[in-house]
Amino acid sequence: MTLRAVVIGVGHYLPDRIVPNAELETLVDTTDDWIRSRSGIERRHFAAEGQNTSDLATRAAQAALADAGLVAADLDAIIVATSTADLTFPSVATMVQGNLAMRNGFAFDVQAVCAGFVYALTTANALILSGAAHRVLVIGAETFSKLMDWSDRSTCVLFGDGAGALVLEGIEQPGTSLDRGILAVDLHSDGQFKDLLYVDGGVSTGTIGHLRMQGKEVFRHAVEKLASTAHTALERAGLTPDDVAWIVPHQANIRIIEGTAKRMQVPMERVVVTVQDHGNTSAASIPLALSVGRARGQIKPGDLLVTEAIGGGLAWGSVVLRW
Ligand code: UT7
Repeated sequence: MTLRAVVIGVGHYLPDRIVPNAELETLVDTTDDWIRSRSGIERRHFAAEGQNTSDLATRAAQAALADAGLVAADLDAIIVATSTADLTFPSVATMVQGNLAMRNGFAFDVQAVCAGFVYALTTANALILSGAAHRVLVIGAETFSKLMDWSDRSTCVLFGDGAGALVLEGIEQPGTSLDRGILAVDLHSDGQFKDLLYVDGGVSTGTIGHLRMQGKEVFRHAVEKLASTAHTALERAGLTPDDVAWIVPHQANIRIIEGTAKRMQVPMERVVVTVQDHGNTSAASIPLALSVGRARGQIKPGDLLVTEAIGGGLAWGSVVLRW
């Protein structure tokens, strides 16, 4: 038998405020048509004034715990993937732990920007396989609306806020590629590309800063690197794209999602797409897509999933798991 980190609960939370493209036409020189045709985004959710990443993360955590039929005391660890922590420290994860009144276990954040959730899943998998934790709550939560430069039309139309969460549990499986749970992972980063996507503020400047992106360059890296990491992870699992029930990609741009699926020779009918409704929610986009995909009836028990993401760093990677 082989120990696997198996998904036993999923949930998400989206702030109430929905901002359609038309609303952004009143802010910057843009059009609904440009945003839809260049990115696939039609609307996004924005957190309310005073609503922070930890609030969104807590709501998603509660939904995932309810789905798993567990309470916070049943967990050993909480990992939050985020680049928009409420404060420089403590971590969002410990804030969620406090909100859930969880007094046991440990909690910490993972910061790999849009690739944060695949990094957090990989970390949770390692904790479970090493025996350091049995049940881990993995959350992706972001309030990127707080990082936007509202005079920069090339970025402010692309991002949104939200949170998604999974509960993972170590469960013995037969030890084949038909096992449930995480079957393979593949992570990369290359710091020489740090200027392609970054926030121009932080402790060094004494400001929060704004998101800056060379979109075309990031786009170019994305299609190539995402297909490549997904192939590597599938190969490690002893599987091929033909075995994939659903690609659950980071939701940055429908053209990147389509380009990656095409390179993997997986038809778009087998890709979970939420970018039209959420925009780019960075580390939250994959768990949001997993939760929405399950709620839509797309993702079913036993389905083989490939998640892949790329973002600031550059950092990228993928996780192959059976639902
Ligand atoms: O999640 C982290 C990873 N991030 C990504 O994956 C994002 C990757 N990049 C992208 O998704 C795309 O590059 C964008 C959606 C950001 C941009 O699409 P593009 O096809 O690469 O457009 P572009 O940046 O080359 O801009 C084309 C034109 C420019 O005008 P000129 O120079 O051709 O006259 C821009 O000024 O579109 C203009 N433009 C806009 N026009 C209307 C840029 N932003 C806007 C806008 N509304 N919001």
